[in-house]
Amino acid sequence: VAQDPAAGEKAFVVCRACHQIGPSAKNLVGPELNGVVGRKAGTVPGYTYSQANLHSGLTWDETTLETYLPSPQTIVKGTKMIFPGVKDPQKVKDIIAFLKQFGPD
Ligand code: HEM
Repeated sequence: VAQDPAAGEKAFVVCRACHQIGPSAKNLVGPELNGVVGRKAGTVPGYTYSQANLHSGLTWDETTLETYLPSPQTIVKGTKMIFPGVKDPQKVKDIIAFLKQFGPD
């Protein structure tokens, strides 16, 4: 399978420590992730981003997420997403497939 959203939901468990997604998702340690695929970085209302994320100039799409999720602090230097990243490329693809299921609220 190229991308498996059900596997992505399982892999997303590590993200849930800091992020919510789905109906009534709220900003937590990290911003809520509804509609994140296709979203400009740093644009969730009411969430206080680091300057690094705010001014990264990135749009979160499949390409940027495939580089960001394995090593967030390499791609957004100075980010406050203190998370080593997901090293398994298949898991990264699956997580993106999971994220894509949730549009903006
Ligand atoms: C930001 C995804 C794990 C904390 C972000 C952003 C994405 C993301 C796409 C940028 C959002 C935006 O610009 O609106 C993920 C995914 C994860 C994950 C898919 C799991 C694979 C975590 C974990 C933590 C965390 C485990 C906490 C230890 C944060 C924080 C930010 C952030 C604090 C804001 C960054 C900043 O303003 O510099 N995350 N995240 N994330 N995430 Fe995560």
